[in-house]
Amino acid sequence: MDVFEAIKTRRSIRSFSNKEISEEDLNTIMEAGRLAPSGNNRQPYKFVVIKDKALIKEYASTCCFQEFISDAAVIIVGCVEKGREVAGAIAVQNMVLEATELGIGACWVGWFDREKARALLNIPTNYEPFITVPMGYPKEYPAERPKKSLNEIFVYNKF
Ligand SMILES: Cc1cc2nc3c(=O)[nH]c(=O)nc-3n(C[C@H](O)[C@H](O)[C@H](O)COP(=O)(O)O)c2cc1C
Repeated sequence: MDVFEAIKTRRSIRSFSNKEISEEDLNTIMEAGRLAPSGNNRQPYKFVVIKDKALIKEYASTCCFQEFISDAAVIIVGCVEKGREVAGAIAVQNMVLEATELGIGACWVGWFDREKARALLNIPTNYEPFITVPMGYPKEYPAERPKKSLNEIFVYNKF
């Protein structure tokens, strides 16, 4: 699968089977995050990779009644130094696209209780948990969600 194919076929997946993600595939996904660009190459992030089943269930309770998260095989919680969400987001999208290539589904989840997540995962105060990414093998493959047309989101030369 080439990059554009991964971009086109990625979906937010909200239903996971109980198939495990292999260590090899998880490492490939993490490697895709590690290689992301960042301003001044600062790499101002840490990612908490939750594999423990009991902790996945407990963590899901920080995600505001989004039950599907408790079925994830792995949850990656993105944490950034204050104000560095852009760098964090680039690394997350690298990981989500690599997961797509491997047939693994993921969903960006921004709706979660950051302070509960911090307490549960021992995230220090100099890092901000900014995104939760449950991953697992998809039980469904949703249709493409509606996207604006090129003309609606790109303007040429001046806004
Ligand atoms: C920053 C961000 C936060 C999001 N938060 C949530 C969330 O809390 N729960 C959820 O189910 N989906 C969440 N999504 C997924 C979006 O709903 C989804 O990307 C959008 O509906 C388009 O669908 P697609 O990803 O399949 O193209 C989030 C996406 C982004 C980028």
